[in-house]
Parts: sequence; structure tokens; C-alpha cells
Amino acid sequence: MSKTVLVSGGAGFIGSHVTVELSQAGYDVIIADNMSNCDETNYKGVCAILGKQLPFIKMDFCDSAATEKLFSENKIDAVIHFAAFKAVGESVAEPLMYYKNNLVSFLNILQASREHGTNVLFSSSATVYGEPDETPVTEQSPRKPATSPYGNTKQMCEDFLRDCVAAYGMHGIALRYFNPIGAHPSALIGELPRGVPNNLVPFITQTAIGKRECLYIFGNDYPTPDGTCLRDYIDIVDLAKAHVCAVSRMIEGRMEEPYEIFNIGTGRPVSVLELVNAFEKVNGLKLNYRFAPRREGDVTAVWADPSLAERKLGWKATRTVEQTLAAAWAWEKHLAGK
Ligand code: UFG
Repeated sequence: MSKTVLVSGGAGFIGSHVTVELSQAGYDVIIADNMSNCDETNYKGVCAILGKQLPFIKMDFCDSAATEKLFSENKIDAVIHFAAFKAVGESVAEPLMYYKNNLVSFLNILQASREHGTNVLFSSSATVYGEPDETPVTEQSPRKPATSPYGNTKQMCEDFLRDCVAAYGMHGIALRYFNPIGAHPSALIGELPRGVPNNLVPFITQTAIGKRECLYIFGNDYPTPDGTCLRDYIDIVDLAKAHVCAVSRMIEGRMEEPYEIFNIGTGRPVSVLELVNAFEKVNGLKLNYRFAPRREGDVTAVWADPSLAERKLGWKATRTVEQTLAAAWAWEKHLAGK
């Protein structure tokens, strides 16, 4: 009998790609989203890629009664929680909004998962490592004090999951994503930032298409080979596949510990300038960019040691940064109707 996975925030960037991979791997997927930070584009894209309508529930996981109702009306084998706010700067300006939304929704999911024996996968972030003392970071590297309420919610939710697993006999996995970029090769789903993008790749593609005049590279005086920051950019489809590995590990009872953490990255550091140059080269265009002062709160360099995920989940990033940047550009052109 096929197993059912609930994807909270399933209409968003990561959630929509994970939904496609889960469904293609044979899982029944229920998408739930309050659409507070997206429109129907990705949901429609998911259905077009899969050639079928997936169950969609418009709801807010901050509503505990609605959350409990969803879990009692469906036999849910695992839940993946993406429904959260994610803009670092906004979280500094609006901490209460971030704490209320990101923490309450996850507490409600944990409560319902406890009642119904559901496995829980939490989408965490490399942000929990802060400015690491050593790179690459392993899952054992220390978590640093969070520098934003957003980062704090990631750390707190990891702790909520760890403590609930320990107390209630639950099973949970936290995946710590590095920098997810790109789009589905179909160009039917991708990243849809509202307003001015905070993240690098949407800013690059919007500059290339003419929506933004100029890309500002924040800082070229970092102690790195070319002076710009180093990150671990992970293809969104590769990242989505890691969720299939983690969900099946939980559902099939293959976990070695009831709470496990995995880094999801490539293990390759890429500088901002290298990424910009790769984008120009693979897509055969010139980007209008300029160096600007450092952005407050940016870490110099962080990249993953992804070997634990390879050993235990049997997962590994497969796509090159060039393939990923070509997909990101195809998505931007699709959005522009080109
Ligand atoms: N950058 C630019 N110009 C831009 C946007 C970004 O130069 O217009 C640079 C940044 O300074 C950084 C790199 O591109 O060096 C990557 O920036 P992103 O905003 O794309 O990603 P971050 O590494 O800052 O963000 C990631 C995750 C967040 C997480 C954050 C915490 O995307 O979810 O790490 O450090 F919160």
C-alpha cells in the first residue's frame, strides 16, 4: 500500500520540488499551504509535471484545530514541514511575526504527529552553523548563536524536534540545507520571490531578464581567493531527492537513531563571483554587476561536508552548478513568457 506524505508549504519553492520527487517515487502527497508567500504558479506547475491533480488544502498550521483535523482525517505516514517565513532581514524587523508563525506552526505539527504516530522531517538550514570555525562543516560542528530571529527559529525548531523525539518515542530528521538554487528542468516550477529578491540567484536572473538594472555583489574584500563570499549552492532537484531518501528511511524503519541530522550540500565552495561568471558563460550573456559594501550579517564562507548523507541516506548531489544555473535561467524566461 502506498504511503502518504503531508507537505506543509508545498506550494513554495522547495516544497513544490519535493512534492514532484515524492510523487514520482510513488508516495501519495497532500499539499497544504496558506499561500501567504506564494501564488498558484508552482502548484499548477507540479500538477502539469505529474499529469494529475494532487490534493491541495489551503490552511494555516498556526491553527491547531485545523492541523489536528487534517491529521485525523488522513492517514499521514510522514510530514515535511516547509511552511515558514524565511527572509533574514524581515525577521530582524518583525521578530514576533517570525516567532509566532515559524514556532507555533511547528509546535502544532509536532503535537498532531505525536498523537497520530507520524514521522517528522524538518527543513533546517546551514544558518545554524553561523560563521563556522572550520570548513567544511559536519553535523558535529557547533551551532553558533543565531544572528537573526529567522536563524533562531531554525535552531529552536531543531530543538523542539529533538526533545519531542526523546520524550514521546517519535522519529524525526532535520535536513540542514546549504544554498538551494535552480529550478525544475521542465521550467514549470521554480523560485518566485515577492518584490526585490534577497537571494543571489533570483537577483541574477532578474537582472539578466531586465527586471533589475544591476546586480550588487556584497563585498569583494573578504579573506577568500577572489574576495567574495563562499557558499555551497545545491541544486533544488538534488535537494528535493534528499527528502525522498530521508522520508523512506523514516517510513521503512531504517533510522539508526530516532533523531537524525544531515547536511544537504555539494561539498564544493563557490564564490559569488564564480557563480556570476558561470551564469554568464553557460547562458551566453553578460550581466550588469557592480561591487558594493558587505551585507550585514553575511558569513564569509560556509560549505558542507555531505558525507554523512551519502553514507546513511545514499544521497549525493549530482548536478553541476552550470546545469543548475541554466535551469534557473530557463525558469526566469518561462516566467517572462520568453
Ligand atoms: N549576494 C550578493 N548580492 C545579492 C544577493 C546576495 O552579493 O543581491 C551574496 C551574499 O552576500 C552572499 C551570497 O550572495 O555572499 C549568497 O547570498 P544569499 O542571500 O543567496 O544566501 P545566504 O547565504 O545569505 O542565505 C542562506 C540561506 C538563508 C539563510 C542564510 C543564513 O538562503 O535561508 O543563508 O546565513 F538564512
